[in-house]
Order: sequence, then structure tokens, then C-alpha cells
Amino acid sequence: MKKSTSLFLLAALFGTNALFAQQKKAAAGTDQKMNTYINNLMSKMTLDEKIGQLNLPAVGFDVTGPILSEGVDEKIQKGLVGGVFNTFTPQAVRKLQELAVTKSRLKIPLLFGYDVVHGHKTIFPIPLGLSASWDMSLIEKSARIAAREASADGLNWTFSPMVDIARDPRWGRISEGSGEDPYLGSLIAAAMVKGYQTNSLSNKDAILACVKHFALYGAAEAGRDYNTTDMSLIKMYNEYLPPYKAAVDAGAESVMVSFNDINGTPATANKWLLTDLLRKSWGFKGFVVSDYTGINELVAHGLGDLKTVSARSLAAGTDMDMVGEGFLLTLKTSLQEKKITQAVIDQACRRILEAKYKLGLFADPYKYIDEERAKTEILSQQNRFDAKRIAEASMVLLKNNNQVLPLKNNAKIALIGPLANNKRDMIGNWSAAGDWKQAIGVMEGLKNVAPDLDITYTKGANLVDDAAILKQINANGADIVADQKSPEDMISDAVSAAKKADVAVVVLGESALMGGEATSRTSLDLLPNQKDLLKALTATGKPIVLVLMNSRPLTLTWEDANVTAILETWFSGTEAGNAIADVLVGNYNPAGKLTTTFPRSVGQIPLYYNHKSTGRPYDGVSNEKFKSRYIDSTNDPLYPFGYGLSYTTFAISPIKLNKKTISAASPIQATVEVKNTGNFDGEEVVQLYIQDIYGSVTRPVKELKGFQKISLKKGESKMVTFTVTAEMLKFYNADLKFVNEPGDFNLFIGGNSRDVAQATFNLSK
Ligand code: NOJ
Repeated sequence: MKKSTSLFLLAALFGTNALFAQQKKAAAGTDQKMNTYINNLMSKMTLDEKIGQLNLPAVGFDVTGPILSEGVDEKIQKGLVGGVFNTFTPQAVRKLQELAVTKSRLKIPLLFGYDVVHGHKTIFPIPLGLSASWDMSLIEKSARIAAREASADGLNWTFSPMVDIARDPRWGRISEGSGEDPYLGSLIAAAMVKGYQTNSLSNKDAILACVKHFALYGAAEAGRDYNTTDMSLIKMYNEYLPPYKAAVDAGAESVMVSFNDINGTPATANKWLLTDLLRKSWGFKGFVVSDYTGINELVAHGLGDLKTVSARSLAAGTDMDMVGEGFLLTLKTSLQEKKITQAVIDQACRRILEAKYKLGLFADPYKYIDEERAKTEILSQQNRFDAKRIAEASMVLLKNNNQVLPLKNNAKIALIGPLANNKRDMIGNWSAAGDWKQAIGVMEGLKNVAPDLDITYTKGANLVDDAAILKQINANGADIVADQKSPEDMISDAVSAAKKADVAVVVLGESALMGGEATSRTSLDLLPNQKDLLKALTATGKPIVLVLMNSRPLTLTWEDANVTAILETWFSGTEAGNAIADVLVGNYNPAGKLTTTFPRSVGQIPLYYNHKSTGRPYDGVSNEKFKSRYIDSTNDPLYPFGYGLSYTTFAISPIKLNKKTISAASPIQATVEVKNTGNFDGEEVVQLYIQDIYGSVTRPVKELKGFQKISLKKGESKMVTFTVTAEMLKFYNADLKFVNEPGDFNLFIGGNSRDVAQATFNLSK
């Protein structure tokens, strides 16, 4: 009998308690076996070999940091490498694994890591776009496909999910995470870990997840990458830490430390963070890896020389050193000088060996090398099909005047813009193994999806004309070459094309390499040359559909006031063009919702929906002087968190509560009726927010506590019920105790965080 069948029978016969007991016993048995194996192995290891396991050099195709590792083959043979990253393919991985398991003394297999961030070869939307789907099963699916492709290509470890809460779109890495909300971010973190690791790492297509960047990397001052963070504990616990914890609770086996300083101690050397919080309080059992040269960078942070910072980092809880070799070069001396103990080296080494054991690498070091699977699974038709539907689900309709979208099938269309007939940028940043040549651009997509549409294409503007930005991104491979035509001539061609058409579809935004690591911006406007094009096009009086591709919220105040429709498509991956075309022609009705606020101007940043009230809140209308407001702008965003339109419209009824009081034992139910009042079938994300009106500490004006994505046929209505429990009202108080406090609460339900119905209930003592 198969093991799963026997467990099922056991559960059927004796109930789930017996099943859990059996599973616990099995896990304890595996732990026992693993411990015996590793004890035995470690008893044979020299100090150098143990320190070697803590070393993670970068080799191969990609450069994702400031320096490259040297002499890696030789170090592998000497047992001085625990894993490598930035290389893949069955052939490349086999070559290095062979060195480890045939040439090194103890034949310990290597880990193979890579930034499989939003897909391996089949690329999905950038994570910020993925999050806008609010669809956990699609998000998990994207991680599952990524893991299947990556594992077939020799990889056993991904540096994902990136779960940093970010409220500052100047920070280019906002694109790599799930936006500003801790609740949604936590669900996504868990879904991705599940997608990568499956229910058992012993599965052939399961890979280690690595939660990053621990912690608070998204709160970098001024949105400048790698910059300092300084934050109260209560804010950390309530607003920034939940997604990391959710990923750990979901079983993530590794954690990557962030580059930033946290309240005076950089994360990489922060014992409170890496040991007290992560291990002692959260019970994390996996291993912790530094970020790229993160240990060496502690010297520039001002904590000491390489020997000092390496010892301090290990003692704090960093187990593995990415690229920097501070551990390799200095830990032995630090041990001799009694600056560290043998026990901390052993502990870090054990954690890395345990990960290898759980992956099954000691049983079969070539487990992840599968030429056949690589051939059939990578970029398969099925994966591309899934990538298209996931891309469609990520798109957010920001404006749609006069129902200009979906495009009418007899309309004459001027397709304009540097991103309209572009493949290079479709897969976005951190699509490390992705091949942009496999991507579908918008022009190609429209031809695939609607071959009869009458389309004329004109470029209209260079993607980037700004000399400073060009210099920076071209140095990193953006390959942007200025068109032979002058900007004026390009605009004039585009204007003539628009004049001859019924509607202009204008595809603008950032270059993919303007997002991701080290791409902070001080302006979030469309680049001036693109804006000039757009202004000239709007002056024609033709309807303008602006299709955006960008890694972050942009400031679109002028665009919102002047163009007819705006579709946010992020960088949506290998199938970008087909997915965008499906949305434009109405084969798919957009249902994405923003997971990060779009400000009106950079001056409003940080701007997020779950902020606190001041003592002098502004109502948005009065002219009273002593209010918390700007004299030159409103406080509210251009597009709020949770916002996104559909080709149809939805009406949400007032809220009905089944009772007014909630207690620990007895939740309440809040119900609304949602009606599709427009002319298309569609989906709506119905969102539940709660406000704790009076607390022992100040609480946000609103916090997302639940949502349901429902689909409704034209004219159809559905009742949507949320169960609100006392547990959902808990937060960390001034003593960092996770509590709820009796009193009154506001409950809001709506299609975004701004336009909501409201009710009030009470939590009894
Ligand atoms: C640096 C980045 O911060 C991190 O996200 C990435 O995983 C590593 N480099 C490895 O490429």
C-alpha cells in the first residue's frame, strides 16, 4: 500500500488526531535519521570544511552584485563551498555537482541557488503586478511553474519570495514585492512558499524558498536603495514583519538578510533580529544567508574590519556568506582568538547540511538534473497558457471614459509608443533566466488575438532620452539606441497616424531596467520625451488609450486628467503582448486591483491607505488653517489601494450585520449584496476593512482584513459574507503583546479602500 493511501485509511478509521500523531512520529523519525546522518558526517569534517559549507560564491551567467567570485572550481574540490548561485542548465549544474561529489574529500553535494523571482524561463508579471491579481491560487501556480522549470534546470533553491512591505515608489525594488499591505502580503508570501516547496522538499520538483529581505528593506529612507531604516518596534510588528513571519510559518526553509541598517544595527549583524526574533520567537529552523557581499558591507556601515564583522555576523545568526568570503577568510582566526566559538560554526554548518538532507541531495546529488524534463517542461505550451491568464489577472484598469475600452472591432487604431512593438522590456526586471526574445510584444499580441483589427504602428518617442538614466541603464544592458529620427519628427509621425485613426493606443512607461535593484528615482513622472508625445497626441482630440508598463506607481495626475483610458499592465512577462491584447479587445475583462497607492506627486510620499489619524485630520474640503494638510495639494492619492475598474460596473449594497456584538467565542457575519450593473460579465474583489476606533495605542484608519474575488454575469447579484472573529481584531500593543481590546469598531466593505459601505460593531469584554 502507498504511504499516502495508508495515512488516508488511518485518518478515516481513527480520525485526524491519529493521522497527526502518525505524521508527527514520521517527522520525528526523519529528524532522527537526519541527525544521525549529519552527526556522523560532521564528525569527519575539518574546521575548514565546516567553514566551507558557509560559503556561497556566484558563478556563471549572471551578475547580480558588485563583484564576482574567483577560483570556484578549485574551492569546490577543496570542500570550501556550500553552494553556488547564478548558474543553471542541467549541463552546467552537473559539471559543478560532479566536482563536489567526486573530487572533494567528503563528497558533500552543493546547493544551486538563483533569483527565480517571477518565473524561471516562462516569465510571469513582476511581483507587484502578480499581487494586483489578488488571486492566491494563480500566485501559487506561478511559483509552482517556476519551481518545476527551475528544478528541471538543475536548481534547488530560489531567492524568493521577496516580501518587503513598501510604501515608497521611489524605491525601484517596490516592483519585486506585493505592495503596501501586511495582510495581503502575508497571504501572498505563504502562497509562494507553498508553490516553491510543495508539501515536501523530497519531491523532485520542489525547491527551497528563501524569504527576503529580512527585514524592513522596503522602508529605506528617501526610497534610496540600501539606505537606513529606523522604526519603532510597534510599527515593525504591526506593519512590516507579518509577511516575513507568514512565510516562515508556511515552512520557508531559508531566509535572506537585508542590506539595511535597523535602528543602529545592520540586519546582517543584528542578533535581536536573526536570533531572538526569527529563531527564538518565531521558531525558524532553516538557515539564514546574507545578501550579496552583505557581510563585507558591514565595514562600510562602520562596524569594524572584515574579521570583526564576519565574526559578529555569524554570532548574530547569519549562517551563509553570499560571495563576500569574509567567513572563509577570517572565521578560523576568530576561533583561534576566541572571538567566536566552535559551537556557532557547527550550528551554521549543520543548518546548511540539513537543508541539503531535506532536499534529498545526499541520497541523489543529481536529483535536480533532468535533461528530459528540461526539454519538455521549460516554456511549454501549458506554461505559456498559464502565464497569459496570470498576466491578464494582474492588469489594472485605472480609467475608462466613454467606455473607449474594449476596442471596437471595426475601429481604426493607431498603435503608438516605444513599448508598443517591443519585446526587450516585456519580461521586466529580475527575470534573470528569462529570455526576452521569447516574449510577445503588444503589436504581435494584437495581431495574434485580433488579426482583423486595422492597426498602424508608429514609435512616436524613444523609450528613454534622458542622458543620465540612459547612461545608468545602458551600462547594465538596457540596449536602448536613440532612433535615427529626431524626437520632433517622431512625434509628428505619431500625430499624423493618430489623426487618421479612430483611437490611439499609446504604450508608454519605464524601461524594464528602470526598476529592480539600485533603480531609485526622484521623479515618478513619465519621462519628459514620452510626455511630450502624449501631450501632442491628446491635442489631436482623438480618444487616447494609455497602456502603461512600469515597475512602480507613477505620478499620473496630468494623464488622468487628459487621456481617455489608462490600463496599467506592469511588465507582464513572456505572454505580455497576448494578455494585453486580450484585455484591450475585451476577450478578458480586467479585474486587477492596486496593491500600492498611486500618489498625485512625489511630495506626498510615503502615502498609504492604512495610515494613522493625526490629532488634526483634514476633511479634504475645509479651508481651516490648523489641519494636517498641504497648502499646494490634497492629501488623498490619485488612485487608492485596492482600486481598479472593470468594463462592467458593480453596485455594493449597505452592510448587514447578523448581530452587533462580537466575543471571543462568537464571531459576527457581515454581508453585502454585490450586483453586476453594467454590460459585461466580470469579476470584483470585494474588500473588508476594519478600524479599531479607540485603542490603548493609535490604530490605522483602516486595515484590510479579508477579501473575496467573485465573478458575476451581466445583471447577476451575489451575497458576499465575511465572518469577523475576535482574533482578527488583534494587534501588537505597546508591550508588544498580541491582543484585542473591547470597544467599538468600524467595518467597511467596498471595491477599493476609498469607496466603501460602513457599519459599526462592538467587541465585548
Ligand atoms: C542582491 C539582491 O538584493 C537579492 O535580492 C538577490 O537575491 C541577490 N543579490 C542574489 O542575486
